[in-house]
Amino acid sequence: MTFHIGAAVGQIAETVLLPGDPYRARWAAQRFLEGAELVNDVRGMLGYTGRWRGHHVTIHGTGMGQPSLSIYVNELIRDYGAKTLIRIGSCGALQENLKVRDIILAQAASTICGPSSTIFREVNFAPVADFILLAKAFAAAEGKAHVGGILTSDTFYDEREDLSEQLKRHGCLAIEMETAELYTLAARYQRRALSVLTVSDHILTGEALPADQREQSFADMVEIALHAAFD
Ligand code: HPA
Repeated sequence: MTFHIGAAVGQIAETVLLPGDPYRARWAAQRFLEGAELVNDVRGMLGYTGRWRGHHVTIHGTGMGQPSLSIYVNELIRDYGAKTLIRIGSCGALQENLKVRDIILAQAASTICGPSSTIFREVNFAPVADFILLAKAFAAAEGKAHVGGILTSDTFYDEREDLSEQLKRHGCLAIEMETAELYTLAARYQRRALSVLTVSDHILTGEALPADQREQSFADMVEIALHAAFD
């Protein structure tokens, strides 16, 4: 048990899938895991452990933004020994060739600031995905996923239109709010991490994923994440 996770040591698997939304953790555990057991509900941040094709897996919510993710991922790694951590979440697209429902595998995550930014002083640390997880996820997505850099922002309602323009110009695929800290913590503790993201909205066109397609696109990400971890 930690400050924020009520599970006993041993109740968390070495492989952890990390949706932002705790209700998505429950949905994915019920749909994909055998023998799913609730292992955390502190502050309503649900975590479940079960088996997928015989492999132990935990699916645990992170909440929104780097500070929230940082709390759970620090504790999952340092107190529970998590080794493979895969975020499954949503993002806003920045490139014209991207459509809502497209899958993005975040190769690297730029960030303006975040829980780890002060420790690097003048260095712009480049948080990157685990290459093997990325390659396996790409294979599991049957070549249909987009792979590239994203921005991890601290604001959903951003006032900086000029920033989106510069990021777009430099090939940044999308904006979300958690991946840079996930990759930085994985680097710090020599763990494997990847973010699998679905385009939920398009920042240039304003198009948004219809509610009836959200569940299926979430299921697609869970499948890709499980294959990346275990294939
Ligand atoms: N901005 C930041 N985070 C997001 C977005 C966005 O447009 N869409 C989904 N997560």
